[in-house]
This record gives sequence, C-alpha cells and structure tokens, in this order.
Amino acid sequence: MKILVLCSGGDAPGMNRFLYTFSRKNKNQIYYAKAGFKGLVENEIFALDKKAVEKSKNEAGCVIFSSRYPQFKEEKYFKKAVKNIQDFDLVVIMGGNGSEKGAKELFENGINTIFVPATIDNDVINSSYSIGFDTAVSQCVYTVQNTMPSIRAFRQALLLEVMGNETAFIAERVAKEVQADYLIKEKDDIAFTKISKIVKENYRNDKGALIIVKEKVKNVFQIEKELREKGIDARSQIVGRLQRGGKPTKFEIEMADKFAKSVLLLLKEKIAGKRILVDESNNFCVKDL
Ligand code: F6P
Repeated sequence: MKILVLCSGGDAPGMNRFLYTFSRKNKNQIYYAKAGFKGLVENEIFALDKKAVEKSKNEAGCVIFSSRYPQFKEEKYFKKAVKNIQDFDLVVIMGGNGSEKGAKELFENGINTIFVPATIDNDVINSSYSIGFDTAVSQCVYTVQNTMPSIRAFRQALLLEVMGNETAFIAERVAKEVQADYLIKEKDDIAFTKISKIVKENYRNDKGALIIVKEKVKNVFQIEKELREKGIDARSQIVGRLQRGGKPTKFEIEMADKFAKSVLLLLKEKIAGKRILVDESNNFCVKDL
C-alpha cells in the first residue's frame, strides 16, 4: 500500500511522535506532503525519512512541516491536489477543524482519508483531546511557576496571555491548574473595578496577583496600560510560541501513540473516511468524516 501523511495548521507537540509510532513497524510505503495541503497542491511529496522521524520522536515541531493554506478551499487548487494523490491508497491528515474539513472533502472526491486531531487549541469538534494540548498547558504552567516569584517579590499583577485562537480551553485549564486570581476569556471579563479590587486585596495581604488572558480578546498591553492608570502595578507577558515549541509531555506521548495505533488498526482493516476521536473518559473512538 502507498500511504501519505500530512500535517496542517499550527504545529502541535506530539505530531512527530504520531509519525514515529505510525511509521515504525509499518511495512507499507509511506510518503509525506511537505507543509500540509500546500504540499499536496504543489506536488511536494517525498518518501518519509524514518531516521529523521525516529530522531524527532520526542520533540515538538513537525519534521514533515506544516502550514496554513486557505487556498486549498479553492476549486482549482483542490482539483490539483486530488490529481496529485490519485495513486495513494490512504492519506492520513493531522490538524484542526479546517484540516478535518479538507480530509472530508478529499474523501468525498474519491481519496481515502483518515483525520487525526492535532492542535494545541483542543477545539476539534466532538473530540475531548487533540494532540498538543497537554504540552501547551504545561508550558503555560511552567511560565507561571517561573514568573510569579518575581511578580510576588514586587507585589505586582501579572497579565499572562495564552493561546487558544477563538476558544478558551487552554486559558481555562491553565487558570484552574495554577489557581489564577482572575481569568479574562471574553470582552465582558475585562471589568477593571472587579480586577482592581482583587489585585488590591492581594496587595494588602502581601501577595502578587495572576490574571490569565485568552489571546484575541483585547491587546494585553492595552489592558496593562488601563490597569496602571487605575493604580495597579501590572506587567504583561505573552507565552506565545513556547506553547507550541515545548517538549511533549509524557501524557502527550501516550496520547500521540494511541492516536497512531488507532489509525494502524483502521489500516489493518482497510477502513478509511474516518476521524479518530477521544471521548470524555479518554477512550479512543472512530467516527465517519
Ligand atoms: O492554532 C494554533 C495556534 O497556536 C492558535 O492558538 C493561535 O491563535 C495561532 O495558532 C497562532 O498562529 P501563528 O503563530 O501562526 O500566528
């Protein structure tokens, strides 16, 4: 069998691990499309280098590259991709909701695809887990643990911006794990009087304050400025790419392995047109695309 793998959208720690476990004992011919759907369209398709995959198995990043490629929705590009991959028996696609749509479209156009949720945002519909989330959260927790001692020393308030795109899964999980004093996950949460009260109370008790801010709600430096105008000694920090570049956690490795094994099971039974999902109890299941 000829199999093609690709990663699309924001890279997620654990993508490399999936590639390793999926390809390790796989006797089929495995290829990859460089930088996701872009590689399909531009016919940048190469044999998977198992040595490179083995080397990166516990690292973040994406050894076969990823990209955002909205052009894939356009008919002329989509048709080109379909033409380029006619001789593949299976295409395994890792990414978020947009990538899942791509997998479904390809399947409806005669290409056997399987979709694997992989995005730090953990916002894949109907899956309680996507590869990358645990590492992203743990990188934020690490940032809090290594920033707050200095913030506390000055009894300041830290505004920590975390990723998540349009969803607040990372922000909510981090706020819970580090017991943040306040969480801004939507515009209505920017209540300066309420925030000032919390921070000032902490100050009176000789404590610093931690406010988690979900990205894309409002510029964190602007929030900082407005808090300072209200007499709060606030400092902003953006966790940023640390969330995607962090070494995959133990849990991440386990989950990536399980995703890979789920795809291998489908492969054995020659089943495609599916997406691998995780339910609330962390059980793996398979649903139609
Ligand atoms: O989808 C993953 C993600 O990290 C989002 O959380 C974030 O909004 C976006 O990608 C940022 O992407 P980039 O760093 O490419 O702008």
